Amino acid sequence: MAIKLPISLIFIALFFTFSNAELGLIKETKMTTYFQDYSGGPNATVIEITGQSNGLLSFTKFGAIFCTDDPITEGVEESSAQIARAQGIYVTSALDGSNTHVLISIVFINEEYKGSTLELQGTSAQFERVREVAVVGGTGKFRLARGYATFETLSYDHASHYAVIQCNITALHY
Ligand SMILES: *[C@@H]1O[C@H](CO)[C@@H](O)[C@H](O)[C@H]1NC(C)=O
Ligand SMILES: *[C@@H]1O[C@H](CO)[C@@H](O)[C@H](O)[C@H]1NC(C)=O
Repeated sequence: MAIKLPISLIFIALFFTFSNAELGLIKETKMTTYFQDYSGGPNATVIEITGQSNGLLSFTKFGAIFCTDDPITEGVEESSAQIARAQGIYVTSALDGSNTHVLISIVFINEEYKGSTLELQGTSAQFERVREVAVVGGTGKFRLARGYATFETLSYDHASHYAVIQCNITALHY
């Protein structure tokens, strides 16, 4: 005796079969990278959009908005291979200035991931030694990514406004 299935159920079954085949197995990618960050000077890689006339950045001012385009390198040295750019915005989002809201795309330029991006978003307790935000998505090789990223400032030079920030990313993706 033939079993009758509603046509819609058959389509749902086919859809899941095909989408599974297309997505494949979930992968985990972990990387340790370094943001080369200049928060001042002639070659600044972060500027304040809500800037003041004296040019000083007000990281602790509620509502202050920053735009950034930091080179991301493979090693801690500024001269080491560039693998991506960190492009996006930060907004000081806590009334007392302690937290900043991070919205950054990691735009890869290296051979392995060129054309792919990871999207980072979350609250960063900006004066903590280690900050953590979520990986909320990605494109290209990182489609449907989710995960987390930690930030730790390794060095900061007042005179040149130069900071090196270690960023570890763990992402699950297809
Ligand atoms: C800024 O960048 C220019 C062009 O790359 C370079 O010649 C100059 O030395 C840089 N200035 C500083 C202070 O790093
Ligand atoms: C980031 O990764 C490096 C290298 O594996 C490790 O030494 C460091 O402790 C990690 N940082 C955090 C905050 O987990």
